[in-house]
Amino acid sequence: MTKIRLIETAFRDAHQSLLATRMRTRDMLPIAEEMDKVGFFSLECWGGATFDTCIRYLNEDPWERLRSLKELVKKTPLQMLLRGQNLVGYKHYPDDVVREFVEKAYTNGVDVFRIFDALNDIRNMELSIKVAKEQGAHVQATISYTTSPYHTIEKYVEFAKELEALDCDSLAIKDMAGLISPHDTYELVKVLKEETDLLINLHCHCTSGMTPMSYYAACQAGVDLLDTAISPLAWGASQPPTESVVAALKETPFDTELDLKLLTQIKKYFEEIREKYSGILDPITERVDTNVLLYQIPGGMLSNFVSQLKEQNALDRYEDVLAEVPKVRKDLGYPPLVTPTSQIVGIQAVMNVLGGERYKNPSKEIKEYIKGFYGRPPAPINQEIAHKIIGDEKPISCRPADLLEDELDKFRKEGEEMGIIKKDEDVLTFALYPAVAPKFLKGEAEEEPLTPPKTGVSVEEPASIPTEYQVEVDGENFQVKVVPTGYLEIEAVEGNKPTGPVEGGVTTTMQGMILKLKVNKGDNVKEGDVVAVLEAMKMENDIHAPEAGTVQEIFVEEGDTVGADDTLMVIK
Ligand code: CO
Repeated sequence: MTKIRLIETAFRDAHQSLLATRMRTRDMLPIAEEMDKVGFFSLECWGGATFDTCIRYLNEDPWERLRSLKELVKKTPLQMLLRGQNLVGYKHYPDDVVREFVEKAYTNGVDVFRIFDALNDIRNMELSIKVAKEQGAHVQATISYTTSPYHTIEKYVEFAKELEALDCDSLAIKDMAGLISPHDTYELVKVLKEETDLLINLHCHCTSGMTPMSYYAACQAGVDLLDTAISPLAWGASQPPTESVVAALKETPFDTELDLKLLTQIKKYFEEIREKYSGILDPITERVDTNVLLYQIPGGMLSNFVSQLKEQNALDRYEDVLAEVPKVRKDLGYPPLVTPTSQIVGIQAVMNVLGGERYKNPSKEIKEYIKGFYGRPPAPINQEIAHKIIGDEKPISCRPADLLEDELDKFRKEGEEMGIIKKDEDVLTFALYPAVAPKFLKGEAEEEPLTPPKTGVSVEEPASIPTEYQVEVDGENFQVKVVPTGYLEIEAVEGNKPTGPVEGGVTTTMQGMILKLKVNKGDNVKEGDVVAVLEAMKMENDIHAPEAGTVQEIFVEEGDTVGADDTLMVIK
C-alpha cells in the first residue's frame, strides 16, 4: 500500500473544464505561494487549451504566465499537458517545432510533461517524450482511456509497456469523460502495477458521477497519483475535490498527509475566484451527466453542442446529435474522444444531423483523419464511409509528421519581417497559431470582458421577447444582443452586411471564425469552388460557392466571427 500523492489541477484542467479556460494569470499568482506549501506532487498549470485561450481571448502571453508561476512556486514541480505531436494545438506540427517547443517549455518552467495522443498512436508521442527526457524533465506518458470492443486491458498493457520502453517516469490513465468504472479502474491499475515499474496516475473527470468510487478503487489497486481540483473548481466536468480526497484517505494506508487546514484557506480564495467567473460557469458543466456513459462525449463537448445548436435554432435536434456521436465514432474506428478527435467526431455528428444526409459535408479534418494524417485509428474505419469521404485516395501508412517539412525558420523569417518577434518563444506562438498569433504579438489583441461568452449560453430565454436589435449610433450600425443574465453585448456591424437572405448570397451553416477568404471581389467562381474557410468548434470547414458567377460583394474579413446563416458574400 502506498501513500497517495495528488496533482492539483486548479490552474489548468479545472478551469478548462468549468470556466472555458478563462482564468487569468493575475487570479493565479496571489495564491501560488500558498499552493506551493501544500506538498502536491505537481501543480498542473500549463498546456491543454490554456495556450490558445491566452492569445485568443485573454491578451496574455502564455510564456509569461509560466515564468510568473515559476517565480512563485519554488518547491512544487509545474506540470503541463502536451498533445504529443499536436503540442498545444489541433494538428500535427513538424519535428523542428515540436523539439523547440518542448525545450522552451522546459527552460521556461515546466518540470512534468504529461504527453498523450488522441489515438494512442505512439509514433505521435515519441519525439516529444524523447526531447523532454533529454531536457531532464519528468515524463508522464498517457493512455487516452475509452471503452469499445477494441479497447481491452491487454491492449492497454501492451501500450503501457511500449511507453515504458521509452524511459517514461510515470503513466497516466487519462479518462477525459469520466467513463472508467470502479471495477475497471481496479483491474486496469492492478495489472499496470504488476506489468510495469511505472508510477501510475489516474486522471478522471466527474461527469458520469462514478469518479470518486473509481478513485478509491484505484487506491486499493495500488495507484500512486491522483488528479484533484480544489473544491470550488471541482465536480461536474472537472476533477474530484482535493480536500474531500485528502479527508477520505486520512488515516488509511493511502493517507496523502496533506494539511486540510491549509487547503481550506486556499479554498476560500478559490471561492472568490469562482464567484468572479460565475458569468462563465455553465450550469451544464457542473452537473453529473450520465449521457456520457452512453455517448462518450466529454463534458466540454456537451455544452459546445448546446451552444452550436442554439446558434442554429436547432436545439430540438440535441438528442439526435448525441445519438449520432457513437455512430460516427464507430465509423471512424472507435477513436477515444479527446482533442482533436472529440471535435472531429462532434462536428461531424452535428453536420450529419443538420445536413439531412450523413457525411454529405465532411470537414477537412475528417478527410485527413481518414487519410491517416492523425495516426492509426484503434480499429478499422468503415470502408463505405471512407470511400464516400475520400473516394479512391489511399491513406498514408507512415508516421504523419514524416510528411511535414520543418517550418520554424520560415516562421521566424516571416515573423521578423512582420516585426512581431521580440523573443524566441514568439516564433513558436506564431508557428502554432499563424491565424491568431499576429494580432496578439502586434499588441492589437484585447482581453475579452468577464461577461458570459457567446458560446456559453445556457439559461433558457423567453421565446416571445426579442433579444437582438439593430441600433444606429452616429451613423455606425451596432448589433445589440440581450443575453439572459442582463448583460448587453454590442458588436459593430460590418458595412452593410445584409441580415436576411439575399439573392446569390453565400451563407454559413454554423457559427465560427473566418479563417481564410479564398476569393476577392470581382473573381469568377465555378459552382462548388471553395470561397472561404470557416473555423467552427476548432475545425476547418470549407464554404463552397452555391452557383457559378462573379463575386459582387464580400462582407467579411479574415478573423471575423460570423453567426449561422450570416451572408458572407454575394455571387451573381
Ligand atoms: Co482532463
